[in-house]
Amino acid sequence: MNILGINCFAHDTAAALLQDGVPVAFVEQERFNREKHTKAFPDDAVEFCLRTGGVSLDQVDIVAFAHKAGVDYARGAADALKRLPLSAKRLAAQTYIDWSLVARQRSFLKRWGYRGKVINVGHHQAHAASAFYASAFDEAAVLTLDRGGDFLSTTLSRGEGARLDTLKEVRNPDSIGEVYTAVTQWLGFHPNADEGKVMGLAPYGTDRYTPIFRDFIRLSPDGSFTVNLRWFRYQIEGRTPWSKRFVERFGPPRLPESEITRHHEDVAFGVQAMTEEAGLHMARAVHGMTGSKNLALSGGVALNSVMNARLLAETPFEHIFIQPAAGDAGNALGAALHVWHHMMGRPRRWHMDHAMFGPEYSEGDFKRTLTDRKLPFREVADPPADGAELLSRSKIVGWFQGRAEVGPRALGARSILADARRAEMKDIVNAEVKHREGFRPFAPSVLDERGFEYFDGYSTNPFMLLVLPIKEDKRQVIPAVTHVDGTGRMQSVTRANQPYYRLIEEFDHRTGVPVVLNTSFNLRGEPIVHRPEEALTDFLNTGMDALFLGPYLVEKDRL
Ligand SMILES: [Fe+2]
Repeated sequence: MNILGINCFAHDTAAALLQDGVPVAFVEQERFNREKHTKAFPDDAVEFCLRTGGVSLDQVDIVAFAHKAGVDYARGAADALKRLPLSAKRLAAQTYIDWSLVARQRSFLKRWGYRGKVINVGHHQAHAASAFYASAFDEAAVLTLDRGGDFLSTTLSRGEGARLDTLKEVRNPDSIGEVYTAVTQWLGFHPNADEGKVMGLAPYGTDRYTPIFRDFIRLSPDGSFTVNLRWFRYQIEGRTPWSKRFVERFGPPRLPESEITRHHEDVAFGVQAMTEEAGLHMARAVHGMTGSKNLALSGGVALNSVMNARLLAETPFEHIFIQPAAGDAGNALGAALHVWHHMMGRPRRWHMDHAMFGPEYSEGDFKRTLTDRKLPFREVADPPADGAELLSRSKIVGWFQGRAEVGPRALGARSILADARRAEMKDIVNAEVKHREGFRPFAPSVLDERGFEYFDGYSTNPFMLLVLPIKEDKRQVIPAVTHVDGTGRMQSVTRANQPYYRLIEEFDHRTGVPVVLNTSFNLRGEPIVHRPEEALTDFLNTGMDALFLGPYLVEKDRL
């Protein structure tokens, strides 16, 4: 049976194809249209999923959309009506969103001539399904946290076998995600995109504002919370999501690209601390309700890898699973899984142990690209060995291998790699390759078997969604991936992740260090590269020294 999942709720549109309950393809639309967090309908993603699954749309049994238009509207409009006349704009926006969801869905069905069954799955049901059914857990507590969807921002659920039941919901405008995004915007970064920058900035700050940030959120003993809306305006669709009171206390927003001061760092620290505390509160509550040792997480806030690590370390949960596409893109997969398991009662027989569900290119494609550009290249017998050799000689290496990974993190298929042992690599890669802010840290990829040597409280996390303390005696060994607070957003690389695993193994043979610096293969503000041509362009326009396209190697000093 073929189930096509589609997320076209707002941003991060995506598609996934399940064949008899197993995903064969899953990809974000942004990779194709090159617009980060795109809102465009995921036609290219759908086309790719069908081609990969070897089916046409009329062979798809069910199309599962990850939204229920009417639900969002009814709840959103009811709240906006309460806040009139200030919320008139939001009421209009709510109406537009709802209307456009219906229109987008209809237009797709018409455009593609689909006459089969269509099921609409709730936004947070899809989030929860994308976490629980993709996990290896037979039973688990499930937490979804985002800005909002279906006018919910948070759900606490319990999953067991094929069932997934919601235990508690928090409705907008009470939303941790909205507060985090509002502060992200106040800090001069892009809302809904740069929240990770705030997380990276936070450890530079101090806790002097944390008591004020605690006043933003009121935690209730039942696991829910309310936002103190005197600090914000996002609930009434103003031009600014923060209130006058916020500006009176913290001053005017930082202008984008202007200097980042101690004040900004302290604000970042405050919102991050508030988020971690709220996350802990909800995790403890859902543990109390379920008694489970396992926690599955999704929703955009679940990309907060510093919070995630605290949920594992400071609650009774022993295992944590965070789906790599934890944001809305993951709902394409979640909607399809929800239909297959929860609605159809089909048993679980798959779990997500890698994220490589995206497009791949043939050696012929690589060769053609290189020949078209008239670039000198050579075929190497063992790319991991050559890659490791170049890294150990301080070269920055573009690494394009196999199927692309889904989600915002590069996991060794579309990555830019460097030597984690050299402190200067952080500044070189930030300034000359990624063209991004100097405060932003880079992530370490570590061989899974060796992770415990480098990280305190090591727990396998193949999707780079846990920030762990680097052991004190190792911080000087891998300074390029040690953040200012001594932590690293690490990726466990398991043997299944080839040829990336072999590359790190080869690097370890040469240096005795089973860790490399891994950053996504894209330039600032762009989606991860999709076609080999884009990888080549980035390679030529930045400080990368070498590029592997499959077995073909291009080196800058030979051009
Ligand atoms: Fe969401």
